Amino acid sequence: MSASYEVRNGVAVITLNNPPVNGLGYATRRGIADGVDRALADPAVRAIVLTGAGRAFSGGADIREFGSPKAIAEPNLLSVIKLLDDATKPVVAAVHGTVMGGGLELALSAHYRVAAPGTNVALPEVKLGLLPGAGGTQRLPRVVGVETALNMIVKGDPVKSELLAALPGQKLFAKIVDGDLVAGAVAFANEVAAAHAGGQPLPRVRDLPLAHPNADAYFQFARNTVRAMAPNFPAPLRCVDCVAKAVECAGRKAFDEGLRYEREAFAALMLTPESKALRHAFFAERAASKIPDVPEDTPARKITKVGVIGAGTMGGGITMNFLNAGIPVTVLETKQEALDRGVATIRKNYEAQVKKGKLKADKSAQRMALLSTTLSYDDLKDADLIIEAVFEEMGVKEAVFRKLDEIARPGAILASNTSTLDVDRIAAFTKRPQDVVGMHFFSPANVMKLLEVVRGKATAKDVLATVMAVAKLIRKTAVVSGVCDGFIGNRMIEQYGRQAGFLLEEGCTPEQVDRAIEKFGFAMGPFRMGDLAGNDIGWAIRKRRYVEKPNLRYSRTADLLCEMGRFGQKTGAGWYDYAPGQRKAIPSPVVVEMIAKHRAELGIAPRRISDDEIVQRLVFSLVNEGAKILEEGIASKASDIDMVYLTGYGFPLWRGGPMCYADTVGLFNVVHAMKRFAANPHDDADFWQPAPLLAKLAAEGGSFNP
Ligand code: NAI
Repeated sequence: MSASYEVRNGVAVITLNNPPVNGLGYATRRGIADGVDRALADPAVRAIVLTGAGRAFSGGADIREFGSPKAIAEPNLLSVIKLLDDATKPVVAAVHGTVMGGGLELALSAHYRVAAPGTNVALPEVKLGLLPGAGGTQRLPRVVGVETALNMIVKGDPVKSELLAALPGQKLFAKIVDGDLVAGAVAFANEVAAAHAGGQPLPRVRDLPLAHPNADAYFQFARNTVRAMAPNFPAPLRCVDCVAKAVECAGRKAFDEGLRYEREAFAALMLTPESKALRHAFFAERAASKIPDVPEDTPARKITKVGVIGAGTMGGGITMNFLNAGIPVTVLETKQEALDRGVATIRKNYEAQVKKGKLKADKSAQRMALLSTTLSYDDLKDADLIIEAVFEEMGVKEAVFRKLDEIARPGAILASNTSTLDVDRIAAFTKRPQDVVGMHFFSPANVMKLLEVVRGKATAKDVLATVMAVAKLIRKTAVVSGVCDGFIGNRMIEQYGRQAGFLLEEGCTPEQVDRAIEKFGFAMGPFRMGDLAGNDIGWAIRKRRYVEKPNLRYSRTADLLCEMGRFGQKTGAGWYDYAPGQRKAIPSPVVVEMIAKHRAELGIAPRRISDDEIVQRLVFSLVNEGAKILEEGIASKASDIDMVYLTGYGFPLWRGGPMCYADTVGLFNVVHAMKRFAANPHDDADFWQPAPLLAKLAAEGGSFNP
C-alpha cells in the first residue's frame, strides 16, 4: 500500500508514500481510499489529515503507469476525489514541496488546505497538451479567483504557496504552517472538528460561489491572447473554455455539469496529435538518458575540473556551460591572442546577459572567476574532463589527443566536439580509447539544448554514464549516437538538404521552400538556415562527398551559390540578400535567376510545387535516413532521433519529432508518398528507396515509437 495510516490526537493521518513525488498510482489511490474509509468508520477519529512523505505532497499522476490499465483502475482519481467530497468528517490536506496536477486536484477536494512555505503549486497538464481533468479547472477558480486560476492553468508553471496565500479573499490555503507541517495540520484539524461538532456543514470547494465581472468580455480576451501566444496548441484554448464553463455553471449551481464538460475536453485533447507529440517528447527526454546496456547504477566518475582545448566559437560556448554550473574551467590555446579573444567573447556574453537583466552582476563575476587560461598542457594535468574544440582537421585532432594522452591523469575523460570526424580514429591516437568519447555540442553551445554523446567502439560504460550526468549538470539534453558520418542529426539533415536542392531544380524558389517548412513549424527553413550557418560548410562536405561517393546526386545550385561567394549572412549574401548589419532575409533576384538558368541547362520545365509536397519531401527525407540510423543501431531508439530534432534542429515540438510525425501520418502513407516521389524523373529514385526498417514496419502496420 503506498499510503500509510496512523491516528494522532484523534486525527487520522493518511500519508502518501510513493517516491519520488508520491505519484497517484493505483496503490497510492487505493491506500488513500482505504484510509478514508477506515477513518470515517472509526468513532475515535474526529478528522482526517492527508499529507505526503518525502519531498512532496504529490506530483500528480504516476508517470510510470501512463497508458497502462493501472492508470485508470478503480479507485481512479475521480473516485478518490468524490470520496473526499462526500466525507462526513473534516479533511485537511497538508501540502509541502510540490502539489501538482492530480495532486492539487486531490487537495482541492479536501475541506481545508494548509501549506508549508515554499510549496510549489501547479496544474502543469497544459505542458502535455492536456488540461486538468479531475476538477482542477472547476475548483481552482473558486479558491483563487478566475484570473489567477486561468493563468496557472494556461501556463502550467508553479506558483509559491505564500504568494497564493496572500491573494485577497483566497480560499486555497487556510494557513501557512511554519515548522512541523503534520503537527500543525493535526492541531488545525482538531480546531475545525471542534467548530463543526454541532453538525454544521463542512465547506466544500465545489459549493463555493464563482463569478467574474464582464465574464464574456474577459474570456474573449483570454481566448485571443491564448490564440496569439500558442497558435499551434489546442490545449490552452480548451483550458479557457473550461474555466468559462465553470463560471457559467456556477451561476446555475450546476457544478457536475462543469465537471462533465472538463472531462470531455480532457478526453478530446488526449486524442489530439499535439498532445500525443508533447507526451511523446516528455517521455523521450527521460528515455534519452537511459542507455540500454549501461545500467542506471553505473558509478559516474567525479568531474570537478574541466579543460577545454580551443577558445573559438565552440570552445567559448562549451566553457560557459561549465562556468554557469559552477565548475572551474581551464581553456588552452596555441596563442595568447586567441585566448584573449576567446575570454573577451565570454565576458561580452555575460555582460550582455547582465545588461538584459538576465544575470546578476555578482553572478557574472563569480562565473568569470572560475575561468583560467593557459598555453601549456601542464595546466590540464589534474582536469577530470577535457573537451577538445580545435579546427576540424584530423591532423590537428591527432596532435591534440596524442598530447592529452601524455599529460592527462589516469581516468580523465577525453572528449572531442568534432562534428564530422571518426571518434574511433581519434580514440586510437591515445592508449586509452576507453576514456575517449564525442561530446558534440551545437552552436551557440551555451544556448542550444542538444548534446550528441558519441559513443566510440571502445568508450567505457562509466564514461558514458559520467557524460550523461555531466549533461544534466550543464542542463543539456544528451542523446547517445554511435559513430557514423554526421552522427544522428547532421547525417539526417544532409538528406533534407539534398532534397531541398532538388526542389529548387524542379521549380521552387528558396523562399517558397523555407516558407512551406516554416509554416509546418520548423524554426527556420533550409535556406535561411544555410545562410545562418554558412553555406561554405556544406560546400566543403559536398566536395568530400563528390570524391568519396561519386554516384550520390546533389543539386549543383548550392555549389553555384558558393562559387558566387554567397556564403550567407557572414558575407552579406547567400540564398537571400541581407542589408548591412541586418539578419532579415530578403529574396534575391540574382539567386532566383541563377537557379532558373541552371534549371534551363538541365532541361527541366519548372512546375508549381505545393507546400504539402515540399513539406513531405523534406520531412520524409529525415524519416528515411532516421530509419537507417535506427536500423544500424546508431540511435538505440526512435525517440532519441526525435529528441535530437526537437532540441537541436528546430523541429516543431507539437509534431513530436520526425519519427513521431511519421507515426502520426502512418508509415503506410509515408512509404506510399515515397513511391510517388521516386517516380518523379527529376527527383532521385535511389533517394526514395524506403529504408528496410521503414518498409518492414509499414508492411506490418507498425510504428517507430511503439
Ligand atoms: P573555431 O575556428 O571558431 O575555433 C577553433 C579554435 O581552436 C581556434 O580558436 C584555434 O585557435 C584553436 N586551435 C586550433 N588548433 C589548436 C590546437 N592545436 N591547440 C589549441 N587550440 C587550437 O572553430 P569552431 O567552430 O569552434 O569548431 C571547433 C570544433 O567544433 C570543430 O571540430 C567543429 O567541427 C566543431 N563544431 C563546430 C560547430 C559550429 O557550428 N561551429 C558545431 C559543432 C561542432
